[in-house]
Amino acid sequence: MTTLTVLPSGKTYDVAAGITLLKALLDAGEHIAHKCEGKAECGSCHVFIQEGRKSLSKAQRAENDRLDTIIGVGSKSRLACQAVLGDEAVTVELLSFV
Ligand code: FES
Repeated sequence: MTTLTVLPSGKTYDVAAGITLLKALLDAGEHIAHKCEGKAECGSCHVFIQEGRKSLSKAQRAENDRLDTIIGVGSKSRLACQAVLGDEAVTVELLSFV
């Protein structure tokens, strides 16, 4: 288990390590777009990782290729559907809403 903090609400959740950030957010009841259902094809699940970036799985080519097509991407950007949670706490800032 690890702790997930969601901005801008500031809500925190105890979530399982080893699942995607998208699944953790949806299971927690957060609203986040995920138009391609986690295939790294749409970019709608783009988020900023404000803390705990090193706890997440490394971005693979498909994620980096998709991020390259999104306006406003920065060094804290990840696709929630591709980032797998590790054991350390993560703070994520949601950018899109369903
Ligand atoms: S849900 Fe489409 S890229 Fe993540």
